[in-house]
Amino acid sequence: MTRAVLVALLFSACASSTPSGAECPTSNAPTYGSFGTTFFKTYCTPCHSATASNRHDAPADLNFDTVDDITKHADDIDLEAASGSKATNTSMPEVGPTVMTAPTAADRALLGQFLACVKEGKN
Ligand code: HEC
Repeated sequence: MTRAVLVALLFSACASSTPSGAECPTSNAPTYGSFGTTFFKTYCTPCHSATASNRHDAPADLNFDTVDDITKHADDIDLEAASGSKATNTSMPEVGPTVMTAPTAADRALLGQFLACVKEGKN
């Protein structure tokens, strides 16, 4: 495949993403401790980590090792992987080399809520 085709594919994948519209719930909100740590370790940091042994081409500046990293990239993560009232985004994780199963719809919904909470400074 040519580089131009790869670039075109990459942009078309991005263009189809819509903000999930998820909101931080007023009770039982998912936190980094109750949800984020395990979710990101299971599905994302095998590639998106400063200490990943093989990033599988994940961009060098996109690491999700800490709640600060995640907060910084919360909007991008929502566009790629979270579910809410407006959209269900499933571009990430890349299933295959290291992560063998995609998150459930329920986990994507919790991810959307968690990201909305961290953006409000709650975690
Ligand atoms: C197997 C490796 C791998 C895993 C696991 C993985 N990613 Fe990625 N990620 C990539 C690669 C490669 C790219 C760059 C190419 C692309 O955008 O598709 C990327 C790009 C991204 C981007 C930037 C997208 C853009 O176009 O701006 C975000 C945000 C992202 N990943 C979030 C996640 C989240 C959240 C998870 C876990 C739910 C995850 N990734 C799991 C490999 C991975």
